[in-house]
Amino acid sequence: MSETLSPSASCEYFPTCNACQLWDLGYSAQKDLKVARLKDLLNLHGLESPASVEFVSSGEFGLRDRIDFTFKFDPVTAKFHFGFYDKDKILIPVKKCLQMSSQLQKIFEEFSLVEPKTSSANILKGSVRLRTGVGGLKGCWLDFSNLDIKHLLEDGTYLRTLLSKGFKVEMGQKGKSVTEVNGQLKLTDPKAHQWFKTVSANGSEIPLSCLVSDFTQPSVQSAKALTTIVLNWALKIKTGNLSVIEFGPGIGQFTLPLLSAKIPVTALEVDAAACENLRLNASFAGDELLTIKNDDFQRRDFSDESGLILVNPARSGLKKFTDSISQSKAEFLIYVSCFPESMCEDLERLKSIYRIQEIKIVDQFPQTNHFESCVFLQRIK
Ligand SMILES: C[S@@+](CC[C@H](N)C(=O)[O-])C[C@H]1O[C@@H](n2cnc3c(N)ncnc32)[C@H](O)[C@@H]1O
Repeated sequence: MSETLSPSASCEYFPTCNACQLWDLGYSAQKDLKVARLKDLLNLHGLESPASVEFVSSGEFGLRDRIDFTFKFDPVTAKFHFGFYDKDKILIPVKKCLQMSSQLQKIFEEFSLVEPKTSSANILKGSVRLRTGVGGLKGCWLDFSNLDIKHLLEDGTYLRTLLSKGFKVEMGQKGKSVTEVNGQLKLTDPKAHQWFKTVSANGSEIPLSCLVSDFTQPSVQSAKALTTIVLNWALKIKTGNLSVIEFGPGIGQFTLPLLSAKIPVTALEVDAAACENLRLNASFAGDELLTIKNDDFQRRDFSDESGLILVNPARSGLKKFTDSISQSKAEFLIYVSCFPESMCEDLERLKSIYRIQEIKIVDQFPQTNHFESCVFLQRIK
């Protein structure tokens, strides 16, 4: 039986806007739906799971500290629309998105007031990411074509307005930084700023530097819940010599908390820029126990590893890294995933070696079908 009313808020763009799917379902029904979906997937893959799947929520909306959207010029009204695509790829203009944190909503409104069309740079459409950061930082990543970037730099009006409003501006696939040098706008090397945060073993916040365009979890608040789960599981099994192999550390969301608990980490990360930021972030938080390996870690030999393997792969899952895990001697495995389908496929491949001990859902994406799963496993043979 499903509830039909979400009492705490309702979105004026639902159901036309395709970004959220569950605004018509009460939050406790959303919780039941997500837990049931994860249990069904575990069953489908023949995975034995504990009777209960804990559901951790940081709130029903208003969590996001970064957001991706599109703007498009509408020739009928001669105005720009800022918003999200519906399922037919039609842009839904949005003034207020309940998923954004109040700070992000504020900068979204500010950004939407700046006119992208200027006398000599006729930009008609673009993809944007907005971010809020530590100490009131605000930033945008304009993921535009090279030609549009060239026109905007030459014209200068739009970019100068954004800079004058205090936005850090990144452009293009490499997230190059827009800087004014001797009165001229230039694209300079990407510049990391403190866009995100994690949490140390003593509960204090650790800033994480990266680009607006880099991967972070969507919300500082729900990432804290996720990180606390990972850290508490690691602390539960911490012995004098526990060490961690971490697959996919990114900029250090879980790495830095583990290091702060004096647990040595070997971080395996394919993205060179993420490795650089991880090194930078760890240098402030304490990096004596950190080894970073920058490579593609499919099919690597970890047969000497006997402690904990922590994995947080992209949606595509671990692929051949499951073979490396099977061949290791790791006593424990923690799997964090935003895509339960690939996670359950991976865990099926490992089920003769690792048994699930605990499962938690962190509802990083309330009002949508998505959620983050955290699974703690122990070796059975
Ligand atoms: C979902 S992100 C998680 C990042 C980090 N744990 C966090 O919470 O911000 C997945 C990470 O895995 C990395 N990755 C993907 N494939 C990889 C591979 N074959 N070897 C090593 N790292 C990989 C990506 O570059 C990315 O940083």
